[in-house]
Amino acid sequence: MSDTSSSVPQKQLPSEGLQLQPMPVINLGHLSLDPTSRSSVVDDIARACRDLGYFQVINHGISQSVMDGAIEAATDFFNLPSETKEEYASDDLQQPVRYDTSSKDSISMSRAFLKHYAHPLCDWLQYWPQQPPIYRQTASHFTLEYMTKYAVEVRGVALKLMEAILEGLGLGKEYMHVKFDEGLQLLSVNCYPKASEGDTTIGLAAHSDYGLLTILLTSCRGLEVVDRSSNSWKVVQQLPHALHVHIGDHMEVLSNGQIKTVVHRAVQNPQEERISIASIHGFALHEKVSSAKELVDEKNPPKYKESSFNDFLEHLTANLDNRKRNFLESLECKGHI
Ligand code: OGA
Ligand code: NI
Repeated sequence: MSDTSSSVPQKQLPSEGLQLQPMPVINLGHLSLDPTSRSSVVDDIARACRDLGYFQVINHGISQSVMDGAIEAATDFFNLPSETKEEYASDDLQQPVRYDTSSKDSISMSRAFLKHYAHPLCDWLQYWPQQPPIYRQTASHFTLEYMTKYAVEVRGVALKLMEAILEGLGLGKEYMHVKFDEGLQLLSVNCYPKASEGDTTIGLAAHSDYGLLTILLTSCRGLEVVDRSSNSWKVVQQLPHALHVHIGDHMEVLSNGQIKTVVHRAVQNPQEERISIASIHGFALHEKVSSAKELVDEKNPPKYKESSFNDFLEHLTANLDNRKRNFLESLECKGHI
C-alpha cells in the first residue's frame, strides 16, 4: 500500500525559534446554520486555503472521547512487541496495510508508522491490525469504536470541508460529488519517540501530502509548517479539541494552482512520545484528478498533468532510492500548452 507524501528538497529554511503560527480557526458548526453564516465560513475557509494552505477546525462534531479512543488505539498498537508489529511490515507500497520504523522512505527520520486504507470500511477493515483488540473493535454491527469510529467520523468532516472548499472555488458544493463520495481514505498513524535530552529533532522530514485533503489529529505539539510569507518554519499550536487541516497536492491540481499544497514536517516532542493520525482523502485509486475545466481558460492554462493516486504510488516505487523530484513537480506542465 501507499506512502502518502511527496518528499521535497530538504530546504535549509530558518526556524524562527518556537514562534507559533497564528492559526485560522474555523467553527464548522456554522456551516450548517443559515445561508449567511455558511457563506461567511466558506469565505474564511477559502481565504485560509489561498493564503496558507492550512487551518484548524473546531465544533467539528467528533467527540473528545472518540478522538481520545483513536489515540489510545494507536498508542496501544505501537506499544506491542516488535515481532507483532513487524507482521504488518512490507516494502511493497501497494499493500493494504504497512508498518515501518525508519528512514527507508527517506523522509521518516525518527518515526514508526502504520498505514492502511479506511474507506470503504467494509472492504478494508479485514486488513487492519488484529492487535491490540481495541484497534478495530466494533461493539456490534451497528456500533463502531476506537479507530473505526474515528475513521468514519473524520471522513464525514472531510466531506463537509470538501464541499465548502469547492464552493469557495466557485465550483459549487455538489461539484464531482460522486467522485468524492466514492473516494479513498487512508490513515497514516505515526509514533515519534520522545526526544532525548530535551533536544528537539526532526521526526518526519519536510514533505507535502498527496491527496486532496489531510485531517490531522495529534496527541501533543510537534507539527511545523512552512510559512509562505516569511519562508520559514513555524510551530503549529495545539488547540484543545481542534483538528488540523492541510491542503494536499491533488487539491493544488484540481484548483489549477489557486490553492497550494503545504510543506510541513514533524519534530519530536521533548516531553513525551507523540502520536499523530493523518487521515488522507482523495479520489478512488485509479481515478484521475485534473484541473477543473471551469478554472482553466486562455489566461489560466492547465498547470498540471492529470494523475491518480495509483500514479503516485508508481512514482514513489520508481523513485524509492532517488526521491529528489517530488510528485507535484513531476506533474507540472512546462512551457505553453
Ligand atoms: C503525515 C504528517 C505530521 C505529524 O503523516 O503526512 O505530515 O504531525 N504527519 O505527524
Ligand atoms: Ni504530511
